[in-house]
Amino acid sequence: MKNINDWTIEYKPFNLSDYAHDSVVTDENIAQLYEIDGDNVFLLPRGEQAKSLEWVEKLCKWFLQRKLNADSRVVAVGGGSIGDTVGFACSIYKRGIVRLLHVPTTLLAMADSGVGGKTAVNMCGVKNAVGSYFFNCDTLIDACFLGTLDEEQLKSGKGELFKYRMLSDDALFCDGLTRIEDLAVSCAKYKLEICKNDPFCEKERNKLNFGHTIGHAMELALNLPHGIAVANGIYYETLLARALGLCEKGYADFWSEKVRKEFEIQPLTENILNAVLQDKKNLDGIGFVLPPRFELMRVSFDKVKALLLK
Ligand SMILES: NC(=O)c1ccc[n+]([C@@H]2O[C@H](COP(=O)([O-])OP(=O)(O)OC[C@H]3O[C@@H](n4cnc5c(N)ncnc54)[C@H](O)[C@@H]3O)[C@@H](O)[C@H]2O)c1
Ligand SMILES: [Zn+2]
Repeated sequence: MKNINDWTIEYKPFNLSDYAHDSVVTDENIAQLYEIDGDNVFLLPRGEQAKSLEWVEKLCKWFLQRKLNADSRVVAVGGGSIGDTVGFACSIYKRGIVRLLHVPTTLLAMADSGVGGKTAVNMCGVKNAVGSYFFNCDTLIDACFLGTLDEEQLKSGKGELFKYRMLSDDALFCDGLTRIEDLAVSCAKYKLEICKNDPFCEKERNKLNFGHTIGHAMELALNLPHGIAVANGIYYETLLARALGLCEKGYADFWSEKVRKEFEIQPLTENILNAVLQDKKNLDGIGFVLPPRFELMRVSFDKVKALLLK
């Protein structure tokens, strides 16, 4: 089985006919938009609805029917929901023998979820309640898929892009890159390097969770698309870092203004903060990855409330 160090990112057009010998999984929506069909195609429901054990089971049964083995390749064409679900099925099917090619079709998946190997499905209303790491993968990015995304989906992707912008202190975005697809590829490469150094999220990889503690709570409480919730999380977590004295006022003002200009920031309520308690990073206090060092730290629930709820 491949190691994460063998994970490659290719940037080229995706032609279904090149994958006639593989098992292609996509969602109903993408299948219709891009005419993806054939005996070797399995359709999941669109978006988040795919992320259930029920669909993982159906997928594994289909893998068995097709007698997939160590020489087989599965191709997941879709957004983060499809990547997460297919990745989880591949990780448990015969203990992870098949290779998986991620073909991300949303901006969010191109820049972020299409690399790194975290997989998960939801259970009992808890997001990403069960999941695994699966590194037997490669990624093919084809910018053509961006052409059919609506405004909200693009905005959601831009939320994760904003995270990389802050993590790299603007370096990724000051390289003369302006086209959104080029930015997505550079974020994906940046993420993959971090994941190669820390595949199981024990140290450096934690920083990719910036914006996600409050972001996940807002996603759940307000039903926001993932990346838009992350942008909200970035805003409030930057304010929190400032309130804790972790960063300079100038730094906090610069980034919070920027994120506020680009995204609609929702009010933070006590209910939303209560949902933060559900977050899996909470052992002793709430786990936050805060600027400017982006290291995992714990802040007591009462302190977060006192500093953020006005
Ligand atoms: N594993 C990870 O590292 C990771 C990272 C970030 C997010 N995620 C997960 O990703 C999921 C969100 O993924 P997402 O935002 O990519 O969307 P998605 O997969 O949930 O899809 C959202 C909608 O967009 C549609 N769609 C996808 N591609 C399209 C295209 N090219 N044109 C038109 N419509 C298209 C889908 O059919 C669906 O209706 C969440 O479940 C989140 O938890 C995982
Ligand atoms: Zn995210």
